Amino acid sequence: MNNPQSSATDSNAQTQESELRPSPLSVAEARRAEAVGRHIVLKGWVRTRRDSKAGFSFIEINDGSCFGNVQVIADSHLPNYESEIKRLSPGCSIAVTGSVKASPGKGQATEVQAAEVAVLGTADVESYPLQKKGHSLEFLRTIAHLRPRTNTFGAVARVRNCVCNSIHQYFQERGFIYVHTPVITASDCEGAGAMFQVTTLLDKQRSPLPKAPEAENATPAPGLDFSLDFFNRPAYLTVSGQLEAETFACGLGKTYTFGPTFRAENSNTPRHLAEFWMIEPEVAFCDLYGDMELAEGLLKRIFSDVLEKCAEDMQFFNERIDKTVIEILQHVIGSQFLRVSYTEAVDILNSSGQKFEFPTAWGNDLQAEHERYLTEKHFGQPVILYDYPRTIKPFYMRVNDDGRTVRAMDVLVPKVGEIIGGSQREERLDVLEARMREQGLDPAGYWWYVDLRRYGTVPHAGFGLGLERVIQFITGMANIRDVIPFPRTPGNAEF
Ligand code: 4AD
Ligand code: MG
Repeated sequence: MNNPQSSATDSNAQTQESELRPSPLSVAEARRAEAVGRHIVLKGWVRTRRDSKAGFSFIEINDGSCFGNVQVIADSHLPNYESEIKRLSPGCSIAVTGSVKASPGKGQATEVQAAEVAVLGTADVESYPLQKKGHSLEFLRTIAHLRPRTNTFGAVARVRNCVCNSIHQYFQERGFIYVHTPVITASDCEGAGAMFQVTTLLDKQRSPLPKAPEAENATPAPGLDFSLDFFNRPAYLTVSGQLEAETFACGLGKTYTFGPTFRAENSNTPRHLAEFWMIEPEVAFCDLYGDMELAEGLLKRIFSDVLEKCAEDMQFFNERIDKTVIEILQHVIGSQFLRVSYTEAVDILNSSGQKFEFPTAWGNDLQAEHERYLTEKHFGQPVILYDYPRTIKPFYMRVNDDGRTVRAMDVLVPKVGEIIGGSQREERLDVLEARMREQGLDPAGYWWYVDLRRYGTVPHAGFGLGLERVIQFITGMANIRDVIPFPRTPGNAEF
């Protein structure tokens, strides 16, 4: 620093050194034609190794940065060729130093000529579960800790990431405020009674509780006294962030939440999880039609982003999982979602001539078979159903002038069925309180929610998009357990 001349010399030396030093590249970067000629370090997991009689080996490696692998060529005169390189098997982790070359092979722009291959971790050939390709998705669920290394789960994870990014961008570009609603709550939003309880009463070690000294000698169970519990009341894992999101919408205007939600229903179906992620926008001064527009715009934005940014992954889903996914997404992006009232939908089902397991009388909730008939057979595209019977929908939905229906909407898509459920909210204090009582809820228990109608009430609306359901629709993955990293379903919480 004191001597400007010497510092100039130092920086020259540094430049020269950094030109010589190999730059760390991801597999995605190394596969691009622009990488040709670069001296690089590449780290990843071995997918396959093939030895050529001509005195070298081809090692395919992947690091999760993209679907495709990079082919590394390791020459037999590398010092550890016989001792290590020729023993590399699927699952081993390695660091390759070498240079990127244009590849003469088909289907890849580049390959890497290794100057050095360091083995970071071995994977026993006998016991490594992903030694061979082509395992069933059911089997892969039993090794949820290793399935991120497979083509399918790598692709699902990248698509899931892209979808989340797209959702945030969509809302942020429109001025929505991202709100974190609580995971632990005392109120039931959906009224379905399918909540997981959160309690420390069962854990005798943790009693006495800080706020309830009288608990000291209490033996909680079998009749639990929740006034002695951690929150001095029964508490649950949230089924939806909507009620809390409404408080922010009625102050900040346009908001959204994006978080985990929990349902303790005993549903063993390919579309239900006990823990799933939900995106819930909530907008003040918005009615049901505005809500539908927002939902349609969001879905189209997600689909176009995925087709553009995850092209290689989508190609894989289209070839190996469901041959229609790309075409369907392109079609959906280019067409208007239909808007059909519940009553019209029931008429369509009743005159369809189709035999359904569940009856389709007006007033019944629609089942998956009905939703699929409408989107797959009758309309052949996504449909937004609206104005459902008040008796089958929660207390917070706005009652229509007919008194029989509420301003609800569900977005239904082929194969998956409902991916969005939303509504315009009941903003009239008296109607809301009456609806609560009608459903056996005490408005006093929801006093803070009711207050929003007491002070400066406004028309407002929102919806919930099930993240896993939308990923199922995009990828064609038939089972929801395969689009979330660690699925929680009845009897399953191993990983
Ligand atoms: O229709 P739901 O129950 O609506 C609500 O919870 C509202 N409070 C949302 C709102 O208006 N803010 O759930 C919304 C979406 C469904 O359309 C579905 O995509 C998904 O959440 N979903 C599930 N996904 C996986 N497993 C489950 N058990 C799900 N239950 C709902
Ligand atoms: Mg619903």
